Amino acid sequence: MLNLRQLKAIVFDAYGTLFNISSLDDRLDHYYGKKSKDIARLWRHKQLEYTWLRSLMGRYEPFSKVTGDALQHACRRYAVEFTRDILDDMMLRYQVVAAYPEVQEALDQLRRKHRLAVLSNADYKMLKSAVDHNSLDHIFDRIISVDVISQFKPMPSVYQLAISGLEIDKEYIAFVSTNTWDVAGAKSFGFKTIWLNRNNSLIENLDLEPDWTIESLQELLV
Ligand code: LAC
Repeated sequence: MLNLRQLKAIVFDAYGTLFNISSLDDRLDHYYGKKSKDIARLWRHKQLEYTWLRSLMGRYEPFSKVTGDALQHACRRYAVEFTRDILDDMMLRYQVVAAYPEVQEALDQLRRKHRLAVLSNADYKMLKSAVDHNSLDHIFDRIISVDVISQFKPMPSVYQLAISGLEIDKEYIAFVSTNTWDVAGAKSFGFKTIWLNRNNSLIENLDLEPDWTIESLQELLV
């Protein structure tokens, strides 16, 4: 557990943490029926894998392009149709992805005592659309996209964006994510880390344990 009173800011990952991307699954089901679950899983896996590979190779492309490329790969793997219209529709769904039910109220409470920011691999336009769609814009002091440095998480330079954006030293910042690799990256960088284990996952075996594990953002309102 962490004593949040000793912290000045809480920084959140976006997809999977604040926004529920499984809300895109229904649309995939409309297009791909019984293959949609496998396609959704491979799509998310390849989306993340491509961000890691592009950072390591120094071949950054915006998250929106990487997301489209990953969907195309998943469609090819499962031998289903992939068209520009389907891609445009799925990317539009990303812009209006739903926040998890407890997000609005929990963050509204947290912002009374902490500065809040979102730090995401998403391009700024993609991220801002999701924030605005869920009426969260007033919640955040900063909406930070990795686009400004053309690198993806878990590169240390990405987490540094939160420090420069908020002008708060790292020891006063907690980072919240459901993504185990993202928690490891933030811990490695030096943030206090809170793993939001929404999906009964297992933490990575990287010697980088989170400082606090929760199952809902409500648990931060202690
Ligand atoms: C993000 C993805 C990794 O928002 O969830 O950065």
